Amino acid sequence: MHTTPYPQSVLEKLAGSLTAKTTELLPFFPYLLQDLWELGTSPRIVAGLIRKYEKQPERGRYLDLACGKGAVSVEIAKALGARVAGVDITPEFIDVARRKAEEHGVASLCVFTVADANAAVREERGYDGVIFGAVGDILGSPEDTVTLLREIVREGGVIIIDDAYVDDTDAKVRHQNYATREQWLDVFERSGLRVLEEVAGAVLSTECAAGNRADLEKIKARAAQLSVLHPEKKKFFEEYVAGQADEVQDLESTLTGVVWVLRKI
Ligand SMILES: C[S@@+](CC[C@H](N)C(=O)[O-])C[C@H]1O[C@@H](n2cnc3c(N)ncnc32)[C@H](O)[C@@H]1O
Repeated sequence: MHTTPYPQSVLEKLAGSLTAKTTELLPFFPYLLQDLWELGTSPRIVAGLIRKYEKQPERGRYLDLACGKGAVSVEIAKALGARVAGVDITPEFIDVARRKAEEHGVASLCVFTVADANAAVREERGYDGVIFGAVGDILGSPEDTVTLLREIVREGGVIIIDDAYVDDTDAKVRHQNYATREQWLDVFERSGLRVLEEVAGAVLSTECAAGNRADLEKIKARAAQLSVLHPEKKKFFEEYVAGQADEVQDLESTLTGVVWVLRKI
């Protein structure tokens, strides 16, 4: 991973977006996550939502910001015939995304670029929709994030955000990085975005829970291999696996995973 040109704050948020507590792990992510294509957001749910709310998605142009290995982008291109631009800071993930687009026969519809999303949000304009899937706070607070995403789409365009909210005040103390549902809704209203749909609870858990648990086992196995290869970093790999397990647990209890579809008005 070529991490040198980016400021420390960007690297810390990059680590956070992959649920790691330390940037020490950054060089190991391509190895740790090599068995996974989908890194967070359900491609099927996103493609289904675009199909539902866009009259002619095959004429549309979508930006998948922090697209990871391009699972969502490739699904949108394949299922809807839409053009997609995917941007991610991790070059190894972009390599996989390009390969997958080829394999799925949608390379002509997809363009993948290695870039910092913080730069991309200031340059990319005029899209019919933007997807911000399972990326956390890399663009700042919910308000900062929504304000920046709003600029990327044309009027009437859609913004799809996959995140999680805390369920009650007790949980809020433990999950200080997460906003409540009310805080998110307030930001949407103040930013001139209409909520078209909120997918949460049962639908999302059915789609994601099994995947989360199976993925965890794959990551655990890779972390064990890395611990043998780099015994001096064993503590970091173990902490990472424990953090992943906590996240899966939290998403089944105090945190609610959610996908919002918003219309710029
Ligand atoms: C949990 S993954 C989600 C990937 C994808 N959206 C998905 O749902 O499959 C988080 C992604 O954010 C990317 N990322 C983190 N910070 C970034 C930044 N500043 N600019 C671009 N991508 C970033 C990581 O490289 C990683 O691919």
